[in-house]
Amino acid sequence: MEEERLRQIPVFARLSKKQRKLVAQTADEIDIRPGTQLCREGESAYEFFAILEGTAKVVRGDQYLNDLGPGEFFGEMGLLSKSPRNASVIAQTPMTAVVMTGPAFRHIAREMPEVAKRLRSAIEERRHWLEPVG
Ligand code: CMP
Repeated sequence: MEEERLRQIPVFARLSKKQRKLVAQTADEIDIRPGTQLCREGESAYEFFAILEGTAKVVRGDQYLNDLGPGEFFGEMGLLSKSPRNASVIAQTPMTAVVMTGPAFRHIAREMPEVAKRLRSAIEERRHWLEPVG
């Protein structure tokens, strides 16, 4: 995909152009129809997604957790902890997203501390909402 497009996504925006080119080489830009289930709670994790356009809804069981829009990402939790998907993520509108395979994503998270830091803080915040109440 185009390196320039990754500048729209904060997790990659602060990288050098050279680093963004490396990310772009391992990523694809895809169009997604509304209603598509991109992550399925309880299933194995194979991809990481970042949103260029459109919105997705995050649900766990029958609980609504969040909406995700342009610039935001998802799918990092299952890939980095090698655990099943913590929630389901469903496209709410037509979407354009950046998608990366697990090995490519883990490689980037290992090699680019700036990216790893942003991923860690998102995971910390999202974990908080996944903890059972009481
Ligand atoms: P993963 O567990 O791989 O698959 C489901 C994804 O939903 C998860 O990674 C996060 O990226 C995302 N997610 C989980 N909880 C939240 C939340 N509270 N807000 C936003 N995104 C979330």
